[in-house]
Amino acid sequence: MATRKVAKKKPKKPTKSKKEAPKMKMVTVYIMGEAYKVPEEATIMGAIEYAGHQIKRGAGCREGFCGACATVYRLPGDYKIYSGLACTTLVEDGMWLSQLPAIPAHKPVYDIDKLKPDVTTFQKLYPEVFRCIACNTCTKACPQDLEVMDYIQAAIRGDIEQVMDLSFDCLCCGLCAIRCPSEIVQFNIGLLAKRLYGKYLSIKGKQLEKRIKEIKKHKYDKEFKELMKMKKELLKKKYYERDIE
Ligand code: FES
Repeated sequence: MATRKVAKKKPKKPTKSKKEAPKMKMVTVYIMGEAYKVPEEATIMGAIEYAGHQIKRGAGCREGFCGACATVYRLPGDYKIYSGLACTTLVEDGMWLSQLPAIPAHKPVYDIDKLKPDVTTFQKLYPEVFRCIACNTCTKACPQDLEVMDYIQAAIRGDIEQVMDLSFDCLCCGLCAIRCPSEIVQFNIGLLAKRLYGKYLSIKGKQLEKRIKEIKKHKYDKEFKELMKMKKELLKKKYYERDIE
């Protein structure tokens, strides 16, 4: 077999003036059962990508807002199962990780126009809510620190406004539902309460109704078209310079 001759380069002497880059501290995490060394300052999502995996499902905003990146993990010498968002939770040495890119959840189809904003709607669509044993596991699992059990109790009382209020910042990551021993899908109940509140109980904004009518009559079509064609930077500028009432 022919071999190509490669000119040997003299090794360069290290120059004294060059400062050595500080070494990154690494920790070991287990991804799908395999050990990887990753930087200790990485988030779980960053660690998975550092280890060479491409995340196709289970990532969205990457900033703790969309709830797409639910993760469960264990730590060495600890019997507990922990949960969190992969994009905001930092790795720890010996962490054993499992991603949950989609949580199978009970979600009945309903027509909001035919529902009543009271307890009968929960009785009909989510009867399992009345099996709540008030163990608070859902609250402990919530990466948003929401009082999940409290809003489930409010649903049992038919207090739509309180369910809406307490579940307002829910990301629908599903971690509450996977831990619930009564198999309640808390985040969908919160979603239903928000819809009921918006449709039947909230004070209607006259200005909003007027604007919706105008949109339906195509009053802003020309402006919408211009926005759609606009370059991203200009669009950003316009957005930040907008009038806020
Ligand atoms: S990717 Fe959106 S919350 Fe983590």
